[in-house]
Amino acid sequence: MRLKIALLGGDGIGPEVLAQAVKCLSAVHETFGHDFLFTSALMGAVAIEKTGKPLPENTLELCTKSDAVLFGAIGTPHFDNDPKAKVRPEQGLLNLRKTLGLFANIRPVKAFPAMLKQSPLKKEIVKGADLVIYRELTGGIYFGKKQLSQNGTFASDICEYSESEISRIAHMAFKAAKKRKGKLTLVDKANVLETSRLWRRVVTEISESYPEIEMDCMYVDNAAVQIMLNPKLFDVILTDNMFGDMLSDLGSVIIGSVGLLPSASIGDNNAMFEPIHGSYPQAKGKNIANPVASILSTAMLLQHFGLFEESNAVVAAVLKSFQKNIVTPDIMGSSKYGTDYVGDFIAENIVDQDQDFNMNDENIGLGKSTII
Ligand code: IPM
Ligand code: MG
Repeated sequence: MRLKIALLGGDGIGPEVLAQAVKCLSAVHETFGHDFLFTSALMGAVAIEKTGKPLPENTLELCTKSDAVLFGAIGTPHFDNDPKAKVRPEQGLLNLRKTLGLFANIRPVKAFPAMLKQSPLKKEIVKGADLVIYRELTGGIYFGKKQLSQNGTFASDICEYSESEISRIAHMAFKAAKKRKGKLTLVDKANVLETSRLWRRVVTEISESYPEIEMDCMYVDNAAVQIMLNPKLFDVILTDNMFGDMLSDLGSVIIGSVGLLPSASIGDNNAMFEPIHGSYPQAKGKNIANPVASILSTAMLLQHFGLFEESNAVVAAVLKSFQKNIVTPDIMGSSKYGTDYVGDFIAENIVDQDQDFNMNDENIGLGKSTII
């Protein structure tokens, strides 16, 4: 397969972790013979510095023409500490998601057996946790009208959803539930919000076309507690843009480090793959950032294009790094391995696949995913 991949390193540790993801895709190229044509472009604070815009036109054009986008991270303390800034790095990411129509953000949260001790939660709570969040990504309060009064003492953000925006991601989430454990939980705030009541009506109606799926609804405040107390209650979580952003960060508590969680943002014509973590500016240039979330994002990319064996080879190499304790200091404080070294180890193990390596996962069969 031949794929054109746009590389947007972005800010902070973004370029460092993205470089490891590219190493892994190059290892997939070497091992399985697919051609990946990489082109880099600017987005975020780094793009504002060089062009004045968080998403320059040529970056957008490159992404539109590419089969997939691999993205690193966005944001800098300079902008975080300046609420008055009119141009912000995050606008680049939001604009890209909207323009490419990436309405479904898929965030798998699957506890790795080797990482159970990393979670601050009790082992019996996290062991076997395996859920996936389907977060609506191009609507809701993120994209509604924003206002700040002239004198700066009043502000508003409007939350809006249409039936069609809800139904397209709902169908995707129900289909995912069919391939998984057959359960879908709609997370909302229907006791307060009109938009949530619309979500409930639309999703409940759609659920009638998926009689094999057990569907329930949960208020977001309760869902936040249940994800921590009993993550095994969940299979597919379907939710709006804002709630999905918050709940997916909670997923990192189950997994043990925010540096381990990948995501895929899918639209009708484009797809982008990115770690869920931020730009971790304190770690920039120190070679300590965890590259695993970025590397696992490539596993999601490969899976998106139907390259299951290749995707599983990436996941297997990551699991091997866990098993051998080839991990960054966020996982093991005493670790002497840096971002680069971990990336090299994983890439080498994609090339030299260990036939005897037991992934300890019932999904390893060809055509099945180990990541979602
Ligand atoms: C995420 C991030 C982004 C979001 C930010 C950087 C705009 O937190 O992808 O989860 O809120 O969607
Ligand atoms: Mg977030």
